[in-house]
Amino acid sequence: MSQATIESILQEERLFQPPAEFSQAAHIKSLEEYQRIYAKSVAEPEVFWGELAEQELHWFQKWDKVRDWQPPFAQWFVGGKLNISYNCLDRHLTNGRRDKTALIWEGEPGDSRTFTYAELHQEVCQMANVLKKLGLEKGDRVGIYMPMIPEAAIAMLACVRIGAIHTVVFAGFSAEALKERLVDAQAKIVITADGGWRKDVIVPVKEQVNRALADNGVPSVQNVLVVKRTDQKVNMIPERDLWWHELRQDASTDCPAEPMDSEDTLFILYTSGTTGKPKGVVHTVGGYSLYSHITTKWIFDVKDSDILWCTADVGWITGHSYIIYGPLSNGATTVMYEGAPRSSNPGCFWDLIQKYRVTIFYTAPTAIRTFMKMGEELPKARDLSSLRLLGSVGEPINPTAWMWYYRVIGGKRCPVTDTWWQTETGGAMISPLPGAIPTKPGSATLPFPGIVADVVDLNGNPVGENQGGYLVIHNPWPGMLRNVYRNPDRYRSTYWEHISPKDGKYIYFTGDGARKDQDGYFWIMGRVDDVINVAGHRLGTMEVESALVSHQAVSEAAVVGRPEEIKGEEIVAFVTLEEGYFPSEELTKELKNHVVQEIGVIARPSAIRFTDALPKTRSGKIVRRVLRDLAAGKEVAGDLSTLEDRSVIEQLRSGT
Ligand code: WTA
Repeated sequence: MSQATIESILQEERLFQPPAEFSQAAHIKSLEEYQRIYAKSVAEPEVFWGELAEQELHWFQKWDKVRDWQPPFAQWFVGGKLNISYNCLDRHLTNGRRDKTALIWEGEPGDSRTFTYAELHQEVCQMANVLKKLGLEKGDRVGIYMPMIPEAAIAMLACVRIGAIHTVVFAGFSAEALKERLVDAQAKIVITADGGWRKDVIVPVKEQVNRALADNGVPSVQNVLVVKRTDQKVNMIPERDLWWHELRQDASTDCPAEPMDSEDTLFILYTSGTTGKPKGVVHTVGGYSLYSHITTKWIFDVKDSDILWCTADVGWITGHSYIIYGPLSNGATTVMYEGAPRSSNPGCFWDLIQKYRVTIFYTAPTAIRTFMKMGEELPKARDLSSLRLLGSVGEPINPTAWMWYYRVIGGKRCPVTDTWWQTETGGAMISPLPGAIPTKPGSATLPFPGIVADVVDLNGNPVGENQGGYLVIHNPWPGMLRNVYRNPDRYRSTYWEHISPKDGKYIYFTGDGARKDQDGYFWIMGRVDDVINVAGHRLGTMEVESALVSHQAVSEAAVVGRPEEIKGEEIVAFVTLEEGYFPSEELTKELKNHVVQEIGVIARPSAIRFTDALPKTRSGKIVRRVLRDLAAGKEVAGDLSTLEDRSVIEQLRSGT
C-alpha cells in the first residue's frame, strides 16, 4: 500500500449507517442484534454452530459432536452425513424453487444461457454419471481447468455429488503451473473445454492441458473430458480425450447424491504461500457447506428475489464460495460471466447489471479503480437501480475507491461490504453485515459471528488501539482449512507456529497486517509475509523467483511487490545473470515471457532490474525490505549494518 493510501486510511472518520429500509428487511437487522448473536457465538460456539447447521442445511444423518478441536486440527459435525450438491440442488426441487432460475450465464460474444434448479440438477446428474462411467470413485481427484462457462459449475457440482474431490485451476495459469497442481493432487480426470472467450480472444485451454499432460507428465491422469464451447479445432488424444456432448447423450439424468461424511474432503484449492510451491488447501464437506451458506446469507443478505453477481473466476476461492456453493445453497439466482471488461466493451459489467437486474454485485478493488479511471459516464449511462448491495474482496480497498463505488455504482443507496478473507478461511471472516453494522470507507469492520479475530504481536499479545500488528484468529471455525494436502507439517508451520503465545495455545496466523480502531473496527494493511497481491491475485515471491532462476541466463533472483495505483501492487524482479549473459531489452522481454510460461500472465513482472549482486546478510539471506524500498523509489530505511556489502545498494540505486 502506498504511503498516501495509508495516510488517508488513518484519517478516515466517515461513518455510514445501514439504510433504515435495508435494515428492516435484512436477516440481521441491527447492531444490537449482531452483538447479541456474536456474544452467543463466542460464549457457546457449539450451540451456535450446531443450531445453524440444523436450521440451514439438509443432513442425511445428524452429527454426534459439533466440534472436535485437537489443536491445530479441527473437525466439525463429526459423524454427520450430507452432500453439498444435494443442498445446492435437490432440496430446491421440493421447496418451491424447482423452476426458479439458478444460474444465468453470459458469454463474452453475447450469447447466454439460463438454467432453472431442475435443469441444473439434471445436467449435474448427467455429468456425475459420465464421471462414474469413466471409473471415477469417491475420494478420487479431478482437475478442472475451464473457462467461465456453465459447465465449470456443472463439473464442480458433479464431482462433489459423487464424492470426488475437485481441484479447480484458474485457466489463466500456464500449462506448467497446471501440471504442478495436477501432479500434487494426483488427479485421475481433467475436465476442460476446447477454448473460452476472454478479452476478445479465444483462450486455448485444451492446448494447455495437452502441454501439461505431454510425455506422460501427469501419470495419474487417465481421461480428459472436453466441453465444446468455441468450436476451435483441438488436438484430441485418442482414448484419453472424450467429448462431453457425446457422452452426455446416453447419460441418465438421475444420480443420487452420495452421503458424505462431514469431514470427508470436499475440494482442494491451490494457493500461494511464503515458501515453496503452491499448497493444496483442503476443505471438508460439513464445515465448508455451512460456512459458505451462512456467510452468503448474512453478508449478502440473500433473499429469494436476489440476483447475485460475483465477478471472480471459479478458479479462485471467491468463485467457489460466492458464485457456486453459497448462492445455490441459499436458493438464489447466481450470475456467471465468461469475459472481462475490455477496450471493445468497457461498460460490459454495467450492461450485465442492467440486463439481468442484478441486485447484489461483488467485485475487487482493482476492478473498481479501473472503472474509476474510465470515468463515471459508462455506469451512469446504464440503469443500475436494481442494485441493493455492493461487495468488495481480494485486497485492501482505499477510501477513495470505496466512496466512488458507493456513490457512482450504488447511488448512495447500497451498503458496501468490504469482506476480508482467504482461500484458507472458506468464507468471509471480517465484514459488515449490511443491515446491522455501520461502515467506514476502507475498513472491513467487524468479525463474522463465531470468528474471534485480533491484532497481536509475535507473542500473541494484543497490540494497543490503532497499533499495527498481525491479524490472527483464535479458535477454529467451520470453514477453516483442515490441512495442506499431503503435507500436515506445512499446515502446522504455515498457519499455527508463527505466533507463539506464552500459554502455548494455538493461534491462526493469517499473514496479513492490520490495526483495530477505537470502535473495534479492523483495517487490513496487506500481507506481512513474502506473498504479494497483484490485482487481487495472490502470488508467492518465491514462486516467481523459482520461475526466473529456471531460465538459463539467471543466476539469482529476488522478487518484491511495488505499490501501484490500480493493481495495488506490481512485481519487480531483481536479477543477477550467469556468466556470459548481459542485460538487454531482449533479455528483459524473454525473462518476463519465461515467467508467464512457468506460472501464467498474472505473474508477469512489471520490471526486471539487472544487478551484479543482491543485498544479503552475512549469512547469505536476501534483505527484501531493502529491495522493496528500492523498487518503490524510496530511500532505503532501517538498519543496514547486517548487510555483507553495502556498496550493492549504491549500485542498485544508480541502476548500473
Ligand atoms: C487479501 C481471497 C484486504 C489478504 C478471498 C488475504 C484482503 C489475501 C481482503 C487472501 C480485503 C482479501 N481487504 N485484504 N477485503 N480480502 N485480502 O486466498 O491479503 O486469494 O490474506 O483469498 O487477500 O487471498 P486469497
